[in-house]
Amino acid sequence: MNTDTRSIWALDDAARTAAPLAGDASCDVCVIGGGIAGLTTAYLLARDGKKVIVLDAKPRVAAGETEHTTAHLAWYLDDTFSHLASVRGDEVAKAAAASHRAAIDLIGEIARSERIACDFRQVDGHLFPGADGPDTLDQEEKTLTRLGLPFERTKLTFPGGRSSDCLRFPAHARFHPIKYLAALAAAIRARGGVIHTDTVVEKVRGGAPCRVTTAHGRTVTAGAAVIATNNPFEGGTVLHTKVASYTTYAVAIEVPKGSCGDGLWWDTEDPYHYVRVQPGGEGTEFDHLIVGGEDHKTGQAGDQPQRWDRLVAWAGERVPGAGAVRFHWSGQVFETADGLGLIGPAPWNGPNVFVITGDSGMGMTHGTLGARLVADLVLGRPNELATVYSPSRLTPAAARTLLGENLNAVAQFTDWLTGGDVKGADQIPPGHGAVVRRGLTKLAVYKDDRGQVTTLSAVCPHMGCLVRWNPGEATWDCPCHGSRFSATGTCLHGPSTSDLKKAD
Ligand SMILES: Cc1cc2nc3c(=O)[nH]c(=O)nc-3n(C[C@H](O)[C@H](O)[C@H](O)COP(=O)(O)OP(=O)(O)OC[C@H]3O[C@@H](n4cnc5c(N)ncnc54)[C@H](O)[C@@H]3O)c2cc1C
Ligand code: FES
Repeated sequence: MNTDTRSIWALDDAARTAAPLAGDASCDVCVIGGGIAGLTTAYLLARDGKKVIVLDAKPRVAAGETEHTTAHLAWYLDDTFSHLASVRGDEVAKAAAASHRAAIDLIGEIARSERIACDFRQVDGHLFPGADGPDTLDQEEKTLTRLGLPFERTKLTFPGGRSSDCLRFPAHARFHPIKYLAALAAAIRARGGVIHTDTVVEKVRGGAPCRVTTAHGRTVTAGAAVIATNNPFEGGTVLHTKVASYTTYAVAIEVPKGSCGDGLWWDTEDPYHYVRVQPGGEGTEFDHLIVGGEDHKTGQAGDQPQRWDRLVAWAGERVPGAGAVRFHWSGQVFETADGLGLIGPAPWNGPNVFVITGDSGMGMTHGTLGARLVADLVLGRPNELATVYSPSRLTPAAARTLLGENLNAVAQFTDWLTGGDVKGADQIPPGHGAVVRRGLTKLAVYKDDRGQVTTLSAVCPHMGCLVRWNPGEATWDCPCHGSRFSATGTCLHGPSTSDLKKAD
């Protein structure tokens, strides 16, 4: 597969673009990050009469992980209800189910009230056994029954004839996330909100007021600040020990219109496959079957192109009518130890600063329920989910998972002791990058298709890990906390807020 990894949602819409912040400004609430979490927060606050300013680092909003999603709207938890109940108890598991379901309803309500044509449709979700066998399905059946959550054990038959048991869940949904968020950006502006793109935020200082400072030295003073940057850039060691960055892959394959039905499907493997259909527009003969999976820790794999190939093969075995692969892409998810987001006050930034992170692969619903929760906290309204999602929570029962993730991050620093991938730029083929040792340090060397060489420091500006080459997307990825950079060093994803440095 080539490195043109635009997702199926990469839609041009004027509402997504804006001017950079050109001077100092003030508002009631400054929202940093214009993905689903940030735009929904800004929209809910603007709807409640607050003056909001949204700042986003990219040239257009919703161009972060929200554009890389597969947009399943699910209340069934990716990390399973059995896991959550075992580490946080049954009451938290029930509250989590209810809150994700409320998030789906909120997206539906906003789409209706703002008249957004975003293909929102309620569908069933289905969990089926993978190569790991039926144990997870059986375990989940017991847990869901105990929790009193709605589901049905039934049979699932793929278009190719394979069939298996599955658990079917009502009231899931699917939508087109970028049609939805472009309209939400317009609705924010219609309520007096202001959006600035191409504006990187470097510092957030809590207080009354909060001060948000951009890379160009502009300041926004605000009654409250919300950090909705997916992976926060200023969480220090506190947040980074609580989230682990994983890369996940997706392909969109043409299938004859109507041949796959409509719904959401996932298997029980780890990592699991997740599947949905995006209907083709009127007059087209095809739908898109979107298949995702093949997750690994960010920066810790070198076989990205083969991962897309394996997803296509997996789909082909189950859906014989699967045709051309129209899109392939990847992106990151940030896992927490219990599988629930970290949403609420960010005390390490000072008072009146809030954060929405730790999507755990469910960022559509976490971003939406997080927006509702944070908007309530900013407005001084009680919200019973505050303790469920508190970023300061401790989860002793999940300590082993947390420890494993943190030992993994620390282990990545041993890259400082090893040699380079190659000895010098002459060993790098055009269109590729490699890490080269020079004395005590390492260089990230990229040779473009015309043979032009860019030599960068391989040291991640965030906390000093060494980046690794990602041949699938032609990027430099940091294996510690998920920062990503273009081949020529531009920061694409935080927590880093700066680019890779040019080498001398
Ligand atoms: C392949 C894939 C499939 C997925 N499938 C699903 C799914 O089916 N269902 C689901 O619920 N979730 C899914 N997810 C997860 C979901 O897409 C994400 O969790 C969600 O989009 C994150 O939204 P966000 O608003 O938190 O972050 P983002 O959309 O990444 O938005 C953050 C914004 O902050 C901006 N920003 C970052 N740093 C700064 C800074 N310093 N200053 C200013 N702005 C900054 C970025 O430019 C970006 O626009 C999937 C993810 C991937 C990668
Ligand atoms: S992302 Fe933290 S060191 Fe690179």
